[in-house]
Amino acid sequence: MSIREEANPGFYDADSTIYDQQRWVSRSGVFTNETQQAIVAKMTADWDGEGLEIGPGTARFTVPLLRKGLKMTVCDISSGMLDVARRNIEGAGFGKHVKAYREGSIYELPFEDEEFSHSICLNVFNHLEDPGQALSEMARVIKSGSTLLFNYANLCSWYFPAAMRINSRGSAVGQEVYSTWERPGVMERHIRKAGLDLVTRTGHVHVPRELEKFKLLPVVKVLDRLSRRGPLSSLAAVHFCLCRKR
Ligand SMILES: C[S@@+](CC[C@H](N)C(=O)[O-])C[C@H]1O[C@@H](n2cnc3c(N)ncnc32)[C@H](O)[C@@H]1O
Repeated sequence: MSIREEANPGFYDADSTIYDQQRWVSRSGVFTNETQQAIVAKMTADWDGEGLEIGPGTARFTVPLLRKGLKMTVCDISSGMLDVARRNIEGAGFGKHVKAYREGSIYELPFEDEEFSHSICLNVFNHLEDPGQALSEMARVIKSGSTLLFNYANLCSWYFPAAMRINSRGSAVGQEVYSTWERPGVMERHIRKAGLDLVTRTGHVHVPRELEKFKLLPVVKVLDRLSRRGPLSSLAAVHFCLCRKR
């Protein structure tokens, strides 16, 4: 973990107590959650076996994967988030389907090579200064021929001015957590270097938490619908990438 990322575990320990209650209840939050859940369900439709989720937060995506029948291991840098994830998973009745809850960083995953069928990491790369190392680790722990799913915040999107500001400050607006938006071309190079092939890239436009007060939702919904595939997906604020290990 770099010096700029050092505040992230503390930020997420504090955030874990309010994450579900604050983020997914406003109209924009409900839209973002439902849209992301639908994208992830589609991109992981053929997944089974043993999965690893890195940065599960409160287990918003872990529970649907468990419901599908995957056996999951979760690994997060924040012990607070792991506590909430465990509570949510047990509350949903899937406690016995989780192999392990591990505190650890995506940069040095505490797992063997090829231990899992799939790895998934969502809404975490925007907090990482070294996405290439993170992707290599995600690839290392899955079997050859298997797939992984991650997403990143796209610098070259509709939100370019705000994203440039975030990159120059090195933190999200109004939040003391390291944040960065990436160029798609750079991410494509990291994917290839990690020994992965890009299978599908899906675009998504969300309403960032700090922009909710501007009532952008109707416009965002239209942009989001136009962003899944085709030329406008290049301008989507978030890119979900399904990759296969060679
Ligand atoms: C924005 S939350 C996303 C949580 C969940 N994936 C979701 O989309 O609701 C980011 C999560 O990544 C975790 N995280 C941040 N940096 C990490 C790192 N280097 N290694 C593992 N987890 C990390 C945080 O603790 C937090 O749980």
